[in-house]
Amino acid sequence: MQPIVTPFHHAGTGTWSYVVADPATSEAAIIDPVLDYDWKSARTATTAADLLVAHCRAHGLRVRWILETHAHADHLSSAQYLKGVLGGEVAIGQGIRSVQRTFKNLFGLGPDFQPDGSQFDKLLDDDTTLPLGAGSIHVIPTPGHTSDSVSFLVGNAVFIGDTLFMPDSGSARCDFPGGDAAGLYRSVQRLFTLPAGTRMFVCHDYTPGGRAAACETTVDEQRCANIHIRNGIDEAAFVRMRTERDATLDVPGLLIPSVQVNIRAGHLPAAEADGISYLRVPVDLFGRQKS
Ligand SMILES: [Fe+2]
Repeated sequence: MQPIVTPFHHAGTGTWSYVVADPATSEAAIIDPVLDYDWKSARTATTAADLLVAHCRAHGLRVRWILETHAHADHLSSAQYLKGVLGGEVAIGQGIRSVQRTFKNLFGLGPDFQPDGSQFDKLLDDDTTLPLGAGSIHVIPTPGHTSDSVSFLVGNAVFIGDTLFMPDSGSARCDFPGGDAAGLYRSVQRLFTLPAGTRMFVCHDYTPGGRAAACETTVDEQRCANIHIRNGIDEAAFVRMRTERDATLDVPGLLIPSVQVNIRAGHLPAAEADGISYLRVPVDLFGRQKS
């Protein structure tokens, strides 16, 4: 099965979301959908998610899966909104439990948050497959950016989350809790064993140099031209470059709300007695001290 891939770019966070459909059966998976969030007002919106809804309805797609490549730290997931509107099961790699334990501690979450993955409909083991129409989705473990990161191979298309970006943009940061630059290097080497012409779809693009936003490359293009990991760059050199670069990066603007929602599979924290959902803000915990 060779899927029909429809990308959606969220300009506010530089995120690419995908609708991946089996042309024979119209069964579809949604990958890494975004919930709009205005940090000034702490207000959510479904503007971006509704574009995916409209696409699925216009093409008569039946959504079987809503997949996360990892617990994102730069945008909130609209998985639960989309599940409510379109159906489907929300799934993420089984490594989410470790990520949940880490952030439960960092955010001081109480006993109502269980770091057991139960917020998701399905936890994906490494190298398992999910059915999708006449074909399947192969779950490739690609830890490094986060410990729960996975990639999804559907026919000749692989959705690599935050492992590599487009060739001119390099690789994802590895300095979040649980991140591991050497692990990312090894994950990319595994992706590089896919056939050269495999279509490779990234989760973010920050339009370097003002070029148009881009989402699709190939395994061969990455192997030959990625500015951070390509043929001839060894693990030690990559880890040194990645570690030095990560030390200069700022905390993502939406890290604090994103992580708290995304480790809950896209649910907001349960409403309190006044009917309002509250997020927690740990002071002087993330990032570097600035003068
Ligand atoms: Fe990420």
